[in-house]
Amino acid sequence: MTPKILIIGACGQIGSELTFKLREIYGDKNVIASDISYSNLEIVNSGIFEILDAEDYAAIKVCVEKHDINTVYLMAAILSATGEKYPMKAWNLNMNSLFHVLNLAKAKFIKKVFWPSSIAVFGTTTPKKNTPQFTVMEPSTVYGITKQVGERWCEYYHNKYAVDIRSVRYPGIISWKTMPGGGTTDYAVEIYHKAITDKKYECFLKEDTALPMMFMDDAIKATVDIMSADNEDIKIRSSYNLSAISFTPKELAESIKQEIPDFTITYNPDFRQAIANSWPKSIDDSNAREDWNWKHKFSLQDITKEMLKQLGEKYKNQS
Ligand code: SER
Repeated sequence: MTPKILIIGACGQIGSELTFKLREIYGDKNVIASDISYSNLEIVNSGIFEILDAEDYAAIKVCVEKHDINTVYLMAAILSATGEKYPMKAWNLNMNSLFHVLNLAKAKFIKKVFWPSSIAVFGTTTPKKNTPQFTVMEPSTVYGITKQVGERWCEYYHNKYAVDIRSVRYPGIISWKTMPGGGTTDYAVEIYHKAITDKKYECFLKEDTALPMMFMDDAIKATVDIMSADNEDIKIRSSYNLSAISFTPKELAESIKQEIPDFTITYNPDFRQAIANSWPKSIDDSNAREDWNWKHKFSLQDITKEMLKQLGEKYKNQS
């Protein structure tokens, strides 16, 4: 089956880079980008783009039929920090959009679905180090609740209706092209911007808050890999643990200091500290490594070097 792809939420941090990657692999005409507004002009102008509200079932169905879509990547979501400010909005967007896509697959309008879950499915009662694939899951954020419930529905639709759904639990994603929005792990992107523009950063998490993280290139590779794996190799239809590296704000600051010696960091924790405290410090992703050969590439120092190089050029071109 040649994938004819619709990306919902293509203007966001992960959706935008995924759009470029999938167009490179499958060709521009086979990858339709969509979002609720023209918020990322690079994406809007880069190929076929549709305005699409992820909460509107009829509109998604029209788009799927118009472009003869067989594969959907549902990247629209309200993340952890924004979700705490707007709980019902987060619940409605995150759940309605998932049901719409799962129901389109159940009704055979589409054949394959990618939907990301998150480390936010875990909570304070989850073992924090090397968090296993199957473990206690009592998420404390609205975002985490929507992802955990979503995982259950994904598995249910696979078991009951044979929906080919594939999912990974993304850790914090570090990237330079598009800013993240509304997450607890966003500090690990902001810090690089501030390192270049101000040589200092005030962190909203405490210095010793370890969280699982990953470079965008690895996250995109995982997404492409799981979607192109053989059907029978995908043994987990809720969502796979996925891991690369883990570090604290202090360790991240140290790695920046190796490149920018006069960089300084201060700490002023806010409400996001409690969210971070409820999440794992590191993740055991051996199921993904065994089932579909997942392997990450980028170390913390690799990420720091690449982020500072790319953002350095970006800011230089702007000035
Ligand atoms: N990056 C997300 C957040 O911080 C976690 O999946 O909300």
